[in-house]
Amino acid sequence: MIKIIGIAGSLRKQSYNTALLHAAAQLLPEHAVLEIATIRDIPLYNEDIETTEGVPQAVSLLQERIAASDALLLATPEYNHSMPGVLKNAIDWLSRPPEQIQRVFSERPVAVIGATPGGFGTMLSQNAWLPVFRRLGMRPWLGEKIMLSKAQHVFSEDGAIQDEAVRKQLASFLAGFVAFVRTNRLGAGGK
Ligand SMILES: Cc1cc2nc3c(=O)[nH]c(=O)nc-3n(C[C@H](O)[C@H](O)[C@H](O)COP(=O)(O)O)c2cc1C
Repeated sequence: MIKIIGIAGSLRKQSYNTALLHAAAQLLPEHAVLEIATIRDIPLYNEDIETTEGVPQAVSLLQERIAASDALLLATPEYNHSMPGVLKNAIDWLSRPPEQIQRVFSERPVAVIGATPGGFGTMLSQNAWLPVFRRLGMRPWLGEKIMLSKAQHVFSEDGAIQDEAVRKQLASFLAGFVAFVRTNRLGAGGK
């Protein structure tokens, strides 16, 4: 069984990116699960807190979950042509202290998807994540893209994807990503 941890970079109840992640959980191929984690309880990064108290419990719990998984899937909004601060903040905490980078991120397959009411599908936000993945030594899967624009027409009020073509695109993306994870996960093929 392939276990993927999914994180949405929005705290909004009606978030399109959270809805996208929930849709993804329903469209995975066989023998794969997507566990959706929240970043809601992660405070703003403050090195003084790290030095005096260590990483907050919400961070260490999520570090454990990612370390025990096969891959990470980020559903990222785009803010001002880049990634949203809340998600970058969470990833920054998760990379602390630096020894955790090896355990939590290094060599771990990762993919990024995103949705926006705007016209360019979070393209610049998704691109902005690439140097972060490189810094963390991750293995980004770039085989297909999910860059949903005009998200208000893609999702129904209850957050379901109402466009069949988008569902198919997401299922194809997930099949490709899971196949990549199978051969690139830690421990596979002697890696
Ligand atoms: C501060 C801010 C900046 C934004 N900048 C962009 C942007 O550069 N490109 C874009 O497509 N949408 C932008 N948006 C609109 C977001 O895509 C929209 O709020 C989206 O619904 C956020 O994702 P969510 O639905 O998952 O919460 C911005 C929104 C905010 C609040």
